[in-house]
Amino acid sequence: MAAGSIDLEVVQTVEGIREAVARARGSSAGLRVGFVPTMGALHAGHARLIERCREVADRVVVSIFVNPTQFGPTEDLAKYPRTLDRDLEVAQRAGASVVFTPTDEIIYPRGKAATFVEVPGISHVLEGAVRPTHFRGVATVVLALFEIVRPDLAVFGQKDFQQQLLIRRMVGDLHVPVEIVTEPTVREADGLAMSSRNRYLSPEERAAATVLHRALEAARAAVRGGEREAGRVRQILDRTISLERLASLDYAEVADADSLEPLVSIDASRRAVALVAARVGTTRLIDNALLAE
Ligand code: PAJ
Repeated sequence: MAAGSIDLEVVQTVEGIREAVARARGSSAGLRVGFVPTMGALHAGHARLIERCREVADRVVVSIFVNPTQFGPTEDLAKYPRTLDRDLEVAQRAGASVVFTPTDEIIYPRGKAATFVEVPGISHVLEGAVRPTHFRGVATVVLALFEIVRPDLAVFGQKDFQQQLLIRRMVGDLHVPVEIVTEPTVREADGLAMSSRNRYLSPEERAAATVLHRALEAARAAVRGGEREAGRVRQILDRTISLERLASLDYAEVADADSLEPLVSIDASRRAVALVAARVGTTRLIDNALLAE
């Protein structure tokens, strides 16, 4: 299919994507194939991942699949935005050459509860404590997509910090031969992390939503200024968010960036990350920042 000047191949089936990837890899099998899994509703954050992928790989495959198994029973699966035509343009403009758009039946031919990948420790803390089946849905679909596409590398966003860590851990533990690249969070001009959920915010809530980034910046400033007690940094996050009338905090954590273990003190021996989740109106937003880089 041609969605513009360069041909973009759009495929739906497992056989189709395997053939497209084999063609993309070239006859000598020498080209590196990069992969960017997404759920569509592509924005500038996704585009940046695709651009980065194009820099480190010769060909880029993007998947667009709203994965039902990572949504909880009360979550927004039915109202998840679906904008395929626009997505194809964004993907192509950013440098994708193949887009994989499978159906639920293609990804889950034997139903949705057959085999699961669990990464205990990472799957059940923070986002996983609030959304108990979310990460096994993510890990399982990403492993299935890796097996279908067989890329050399895959790019994930730091925006979903826990998710990229989960994927790194899974790939390491299961010897999956895919290199994982993490790309920094792309933000709006006022600091709000780009997210497909931002469209649900009213103008007033949209203004209030910058509080997550403001809280993280205050935490970073404190650490830059010499604060080493993780508890005090948590308090800064907590207080900043609780001052915003339209926001209610879910969690504010300061953790080891490689294990997500909560930290007592921040020191040079391990990377620290601050992670926050808050509801602004009825929309749940997450954000994070590395501390003391
Ligand atoms: P989705 O939410 O569509 O995100 C796809 C990728 O884009 C993820 O790696 C995510 O971290 C990244 N991303 C989202 N917003 C970003 C931003 N503002 N800056 C940088 N990167 C950003 O994450 C998923 O889909 C799914 O869980 C998936 C991995 C596809 C499995 O179903």
